[in-house]
Amino acid sequence: MPKTLAICTHKGGTGKTVTALSIAAGLANDGQRCLLVDLDPQAHSTIGIGLDVFEPTLKDFFDQHPGLPLSEVIQAAPSHKNLDVAPSDLRLAWTAEALSGRPKKEDLLRRSLRTVENDYHWIVIDTPPSLGVMTQNAVAAADLILIPAPAEARAANAIADLLELAHVLKGESFDNFRILLTRVDSRKSRTNQAVQAALDPWSDKVLSVTIPQSEPLNQAQMARQDIFRFAASSPGARAYRDLIHELQRL
Ligand SMILES: Nc1ncnc2c1ncn2[C@@H]1O[C@H](COP(=O)(O)OP(=O)(O)OP(=O)(O)O)[C@@H](O)[C@H]1O
Ligand SMILES: [Mg+2]
Repeated sequence: MPKTLAICTHKGGTGKTVTALSIAAGLANDGQRCLLVDLDPQAHSTIGIGLDVFEPTLKDFFDQHPGLPLSEVIQAAPSHKNLDVAPSDLRLAWTAEALSGRPKKEDLLRRSLRTVENDYHWIVIDTPPSLGVMTQNAVAAADLILIPAPAEARAANAIADLLELAHVLKGESFDNFRILLTRVDSRKSRTNQAVQAALDPWSDKVLSVTIPQSEPLNQAQMARQDIFRFAASSPGARAYRDLIHELQRL
């Protein structure tokens, strides 16, 4: 069984996509078969991994469910041998409306992933900045939820909201989540201390690896390359390599 990792928070711009791309690419580079599922209509993971020809996408999968098997949506990533992508496109934004009233709409992805899971060691899910039906599908499908929290004010609020959703969907006892501090600027020591204090209620869930604010991570996005290819010895690449090792040990 693959490990299914959903990267979620409804706070925008926290590094969800950079984290999803870096983990998926890093695992694939290590020879792990990996599926990257892009549930965000912004399609940043799809674009970032270098896919240009999108359709059919997850939009078609959800719209036609159960008419279009997930396997027909999945494409090989052009740049990585062991990496496949279930792509998104902007039309996915209308899916929430189309799914309203459908029973168990938050469970469609989880059930369909069972049909492809034997092909993969890891499934990594990128989500939009919302707690809507796409994030609900990711949470329902996840073995492990990774919550990227930027080192800034109010980082903790979004974590509490996401955990409330996870408890509704997965039961009150669910606690297989981890918090990843992202965009950490080491010069802002007082801010960083305040953020650490705000995360105190979940201190045993905060990963020891943190992701620095590091310009090559941003530039790699623009170049549509993963950080390991773009700047293999940059602080961001080192941090994401360490993160993968920490996740593999869980
Ligand atoms: N550690 C970092 N250092 C520098 N830039 C970063 C870092 N992480 C993310 N960025 C940049 O910040 C922006 C937002 O990052 P990203 O797209 O990963 O966030 P997101 O949480 O997926 O956003 P959204 O909520 O819109 O989906 C991007 O332009 C990205 O290149
Ligand atoms: Mg994103």
